[in-house]
Amino acid sequence: MNYFILLSLFATVFAGNAPRLKFVVHEPSRFHFNKPENYISMYHQEGSDTVYVGGQAMVYVLTFANRGVRDVQIPAASDQTAIDTCKAKAAPLELECDNFITVIQKVNDTMIICGTNAGSPRCWMLVNETVLTDVQGNGQIASASDISPPYPSQKSISFPADGSLYSAMSSVAGHPGSIRRTFGSQKLLKTENIWLLNPQFAGAAVIPSTMKYKEEIYFFFSELNKTARVDEEPYRARIGRICTVDEGGIKALLENSWTTFMKARMMCGAGKTHQQYNNLKQAVVLTAQDKRAGVLYGLFSNAWGRTVICAYSIEDIDVAFSTSKLKGYSSAFIGSRPGMCVRKNSTTGGHNDIKNLGVIRYHPEIEDVIQPVGVAPLDLPMDDDQITHTVADIVMAVNDEHYSVLYIGTEQGKVLKVLHTSGGVFIISQYSLFHNEGPILKMAIDSQKGHMYVGTAMEVQRLPLADCNRYGDTCRDCILSRDPYCGWDRARRRCLAIPPGYNITTGTLIQNLDQSNSSVCGEAAALKQRRTSPREVLVVSNTSIFLPCPVRSFHATYRWEKDNCVKNYPCLFSGDFCVLGPAVRTPLKDGVFRCMATEDGFKVEVISFRLVNDGRLLAASLASTLGPSLLLAMATLWLH
Ligand SMILES: *[C@@H]1O[C@H](CO)[C@@H](O)[C@H](O)[C@H]1NC(C)=O
Ligand SMILES: *[C@@H]1O[C@H](CO)[C@@H](O)[C@H](O)[C@H]1NC(C)=O
Ligand SMILES: *[C@@H]1O[C@H](CO)[C@@H](O)[C@H](O)[C@H]1NC(C)=O
Ligand SMILES: *[C@@H]1O[C@H](CO)[C@@H](O)[C@H](O)[C@H]1NC(C)=O
Ligand SMILES: *[C@@H]1O[C@H](CO)[C@@H](O)[C@H](O)[C@H]1NC(C)=O
Ligand SMILES: *[C@@H]1O[C@H](CO)[C@@H](O)[C@H](O)[C@H]1NC(C)=O
Ligand SMILES: *[C@@H]1O[C@H](CO)[C@@H](O)[C@H](O)[C@H]1NC(C)=O
Repeated sequence: MNYFILLSLFATVFAGNAPRLKFVVHEPSRFHFNKPENYISMYHQEGSDTVYVGGQAMVYVLTFANRGVRDVQIPAASDQTAIDTCKAKAAPLELECDNFITVIQKVNDTMIICGTNAGSPRCWMLVNETVLTDVQGNGQIASASDISPPYPSQKSISFPADGSLYSAMSSVAGHPGSIRRTFGSQKLLKTENIWLLNPQFAGAAVIPSTMKYKEEIYFFFSELNKTARVDEEPYRARIGRICTVDEGGIKALLENSWTTFMKARMMCGAGKTHQQYNNLKQAVVLTAQDKRAGVLYGLFSNAWGRTVICAYSIEDIDVAFSTSKLKGYSSAFIGSRPGMCVRKNSTTGGHNDIKNLGVIRYHPEIEDVIQPVGVAPLDLPMDDDQITHTVADIVMAVNDEHYSVLYIGTEQGKVLKVLHTSGGVFIISQYSLFHNEGPILKMAIDSQKGHMYVGTAMEVQRLPLADCNRYGDTCRDCILSRDPYCGWDRARRRCLAIPPGYNITTGTLIQNLDQSNSSVCGEAAALKQRRTSPREVLVVSNTSIFLPCPVRSFHATYRWEKDNCVKNYPCLFSGDFCVLGPAVRTPLKDGVFRCMATEDGFKVEVISFRLVNDGRLLAASLASTLGPSLLLAMATLWLH
């Protein structure tokens, strides 16, 4: 009976790809919604302390400080007639008959806010940080229903680039789905309906270039074949791309449509197996400033709702789009390749261009299929949790190299911090952030200020990206964390955040990110054995004793030793504690028991207990029901 309870408490097993550290965070920087916000949109501008959150008939302007959050709430109700009409025609969606804010974006200095407005979308401008007014100005704006979906459960993406707003609308009943330029002084353009098959959008990103006119926007989405047979995969993951200089075609052909749209299929799955993930849910791109290099992370799910992340090289995608054959087109290209970004003034209206427009109109898909780096999804330890959102950051390490860090939000409200290198993934840590363990809905990264914003239906929280003082006060602790934001300062003997503008030639911080190896700390640090002073435990004879040892690093091996290493015993159960308990050949009698953790070839003492026999006898019935859990609970209390 007791065994059973304890086993379920400690049943978690160590895995090589488990998070190395687990933190429970109680930061003061959090904002609680007054009512649950099941659909949120989030806007944050790098370098500011403010995050804009769109909810149900409300825009929250949250300004974070080290202690606490200042909030301004701007009501954005839909008019009652819209609500009544919505309820009359869409009974099953009644809960969605309100103004859910789906878009908050800044184009130049104009803050554009759009909402579902109970089934008939509307857009506003946010003026003076507090007032919503109709959109005006010199730019033209598309119909609000091309920017915001009518209901919050339908996904749209809006994205500012080069002074214009771009919007991708997923397909819903009555709307085929589209990618459009929706606001700005450039011509408002759209996709042709035949280019997209029931698209469900997952993200967008600007792919910069040293030559401004070559700047592109990538859109990430899944296409759904509604007539696929039951034994066929209905989803296909896609990348679509357009050039920001695109000004549309000619009167006879693609007049108000993109002339540079192309799309490709993306695969995510273990090479030879049938484990394919085709439903792209979300995507994020890391690129260095004005470089066409970087990495795309796509969050995919399969038919059973299992989620994985695949990583792609932006260079691979770039090469595919500029060299691949076009599907269904085998003739040679006349003049320049169709779909490439060209300066607006070059030979517009020439014969070659008309030919190229025709090619793009009927053959926008390339033949090459985009494969993930390392062919398979990233090896992440999801257990029975699923990924709901992901963001990424690029970090300059002390060796003058860039490292990618992924932040993965889950259904159970956890955030994993993951180092991604060519050698694979290393799970630096897992954060448990929230009072209420709801799914993580949105995240935003501010590399400049070093913050991450995380939102659930209940709250919005801010966390530091460089969280170095959590790693401990020894060089080994700091180095083994493999956190690119942190380095060991030999002089000050502390684990410190790499400061902005750190000079790699004169700086003295040390790191070792490519492998878990703390030899940079030197021999002295390794040899310094630290002893803990044993805590005394009175043993009432004929009760079972359980000794808990808190697990810090989930990559270490924990064992118990007695009589200075003459005998050693494995954990009876492990999880957040390595527990020593009664088992065959474990004489839990008088003596000192030490819990030792071994990682990276070094053994460290974590905690020790001195068992002292009390000689008394406990009533049998009481002992067998209370004994173990009581002792364990007492010991656990001491640890806090
Ligand atoms: C915004 O603030 C300016 C200056 O305080 C004021 O003149 C203007 O009327 C305000 N605009 C709105 C829409 O409230
Ligand atoms: C943003 O600024 C650019 C350059 O000044 C301008 O061409 C463009 O029209 C502006 N966009 C909007 C939406 O006002
Ligand atoms: C959808 O699936 C059906 C059945 O396999 C197939 O005949 C059809 O060509 C597919 N449609 C597209 C656009 O691929
Ligand atoms: C096109 O632009 C280039 C550089 O911006 C310029 O040198 C060229 O004269 C322009 N051509 C036309 C036809 O305007
Ligand atoms: C780093 O320090 C060295 C020596 O003081 C100096 O020559 C160099 O310019 C500095 N580099 C940067 C990027 O500031
Ligand atoms: C750590 O790195 C050092 C130097 O590169 C090497 O000699 C040592 O074997 C490595 N230790 C482990 C445990 O891999
Ligand atoms: C404790 O000892 C008593 C008497 O020796 C025995 O009856 C009882 O079963 C023992 N209880 C446990 C939990 O071992």
